Amino acid sequence: MVLINLKNISKKFGAKDTEVTALRDVSIEINEGEIIAIVGTSGSGKSTLLNIIGTLDRQTTGEYILKNKNLDELNEHDLAKLRNKSFGFVVQNFALINDYTVYENIEIPLVYGKVKSSERRKIINQVLTKLDIQEKINKKPTELSGGQCQRVAIARAIVNDPQIILADEPTGALDKKTGEQVMKIFKALNKEGKTIIIVTHDPRIASQCNRIINIEDGMIKKD
Ligand SMILES: Nc1ncnc2c1ncn2[C@@H]1O[C@H](COP(=O)(O)OP(=O)(O)OP(=O)(O)O)[C@@H](O)[C@H]1O
Ligand SMILES: [Mg+2]
Repeated sequence: MVLINLKNISKKFGAKDTEVTALRDVSIEINEGEIIAIVGTSGSGKSTLLNIIGTLDRQTTGEYILKNKNLDELNEHDLAKLRNKSFGFVVQNFALINDYTVYENIEIPLVYGKVKSSERRKIINQVLTKLDIQEKINKKPTELSGGQCQRVAIARAIVNDPQIILADEPTGALDKKTGEQVMKIFKALNKEGKTIIIVTHDPRIASQCNRIINIEDGMIKKD
């Protein structure tokens, strides 16, 4: 089943003399259950594409159809609800809140999703166990290693049980071995049915995906 359908997407930033075209006429269909790498040189438009897929940004022209729904028809409020429900985000520098404990960081999407406190505890414990960071539950991110931080970030990304996981350079701040462990987690989540899209510069990560989309100068060069 086609989950994500991008039709002739273009994205421009800035106005007139400062205008930058980040994406040009990009069309992609992504099926449920795929694990995809997006590769390309710096500035080629990878993050812009991922942000549009994750509804963090909107395209300038073209259509985005997610699960047979045209997203252009949604207002900001409905889009935010859909985003919290459908997508889990993982980024290079983890984007954890340093003043919060591991537990509190992972709790954020559940609070936003209005899940009851008792229910939250149950779900968070399950996710912590799954990612093998149970013993770090009361630690702050500053007390953890990079690999542990990324596991917390992945826990936060999946705690709402989203259908789609979007990761922008998830192994970029990690050494080779730790990056490989993070990739193992993504592959396991994919086996469970999650659709996963990973922006990466690392050919070792890309080669483990079932599809590689190469973007250059805002265009799909190879898919
Ligand atoms: N908010 C913005 N305002 C203006 N220009 C932007 C903005 N975001 C991205 N761009 C421009 O759009 C182009 C694509 O940027 P993007 O961040 O998508 O590249 P990227 O492939 O993710 O690069 P990298 O590998 O370095 O992360 C670049 O020319 C960039 O300067
Ligand atoms: Mg980028």
